[in-house]
Amino acid sequence: MHIAMIGSGYVGLVSGACFADFGHDVTCVDKDETRIAALERGEIPIFEPGLEEIVAANVRQKRLSFTRSLAPAVAAADAVFIAVGTPSRRGDGHADLGYVYAAAAEVADALDGFTVIVTKSTVPVGTGDEIERIIRERRPDADFAVVSNPEFLREGAAIADFKHPDRIVVGTGETRAREVLSEIYRPLNLNQPPLIFMARRTAELTKYAANAFLATKITFINEIADLCEKAGADVQDVARGIGLDNRIGPKFLHAGPGYGGSCFPKDTMALVKTAQEFGAPIRIVETVAASNETRKRRMADKILEACSGSVTGKTVAVLGLAFKPNTDDMRDAPSLVILPALQSLGASVRAFDPEAMGQARPLLADVTFCDDAYECIRGAHALVILTEWDAFRALDLARIRTLLAEPVIVDLRNIYNPEDVRKRGFAYTGVGRG
Ligand code: UDX
Repeated sequence: MHIAMIGSGYVGLVSGACFADFGHDVTCVDKDETRIAALERGEIPIFEPGLEEIVAANVRQKRLSFTRSLAPAVAAADAVFIAVGTPSRRGDGHADLGYVYAAAAEVADALDGFTVIVTKSTVPVGTGDEIERIIRERRPDADFAVVSNPEFLREGAAIADFKHPDRIVVGTGETRAREVLSEIYRPLNLNQPPLIFMARRTAELTKYAANAFLATKITFINEIADLCEKAGADVQDVARGIGLDNRIGPKFLHAGPGYGGSCFPKDTMALVKTAQEFGAPIRIVETVAASNETRKRRMADKILEACSGSVTGKTVAVLGLAFKPNTDDMRDAPSLVILPALQSLGASVRAFDPEAMGQARPLLADVTFCDDAYECIRGAHALVILTEWDAFRALDLARIRTLLAEPVIVDLRNIYNPEDVRKRGFAYTGVGRG
């Protein structure tokens, strides 16, 4: 199959590289000249384990190429994937579909022969209908089908998620489009995982429902964690105790500082807006979004409390800035709320992240960025674990004890064993470990 991938951001690049790795012929298109030039030199603009190797191998084998010219790539394609950004629109929280519709118009002008146009970007219900209208209006002669094929990959595990998905959702009622999508995903051996066909609007909504459900699960365990703290219970055990019930499942029950990232905050807001517009408000997701926002700010108060009620004139060492480990992504990271809140309480902040410091620097003013974890901790009055990078799990606690001015650990990801840490002479605060 010949595939054109419009948008070489996170989803576009991972999907394009993986499709090429399946053996398809893929052209990734992006308007950003610097990005395309870098990709052509083999430089990957994001940190994603395994991506660089897959891109290099497929470029070498001439199955993957990068270009700024959309028209020839689209004309040659059996399927055109739209994987451009759908950021939150300023002011109202709706998904901004400007890039999607602009791409649709450009694709329309270049269509040649039957082509399946697939939205990979997360788009609100009804977007496929509008894309179809835009293309028909510009090209009444064109032979095409618009399909929704949302992507469920997680940052940091994107290649594995793409290649071993739990399911692939395809929204289309068109037989020829079904055949093209079946062929594209055939290398995955399609009974396992299932390729699920459904109506286009249903597929669009499925993506938002999945993200909102996961965000709800996280927020649920976060609020249970708050109750555990007050009631003298341990949220880790509660999570295990409920997660082994396979109607609930053990994943996404890890209490922490609140979810961040490029998807959950924006997609929950967009779903809330869509539901309100349709007159079917989803109160539970409205509450989840609000609860998650206040939670991030409250984490600073938790640190304050651990520092005996005052951080004025004190230094707080923060390990981990990215919204989660194995990524350099800072979008909606809890650190962007928690660090400024600590500063406004009077603290000086030192920070270290194995990958995200480049992204973090311009976003966090007056923070001292350190070269490694131990340097970050030296002389600080408290150590805060904000992202659960594996490298922080095995830090030498005895050494940390000698480096800290006060032996205070605030573990917002519950990576340490409280008893063990306390035995070593630290005052330990976790999340939901009352
Ligand atoms: C998410 C969805 O998982 C993915 O299917 C979708 O395509 C994009 O959005 P991602 O944002 O990459 O993926 O990360 P994910 O691993 O889901 O974590 C999201 C946020 O939730 C992170 O801030 C993480 O720290 C937090 N989280 C996750 C928790 O606080 N507790 C958990 O148990 C799980």
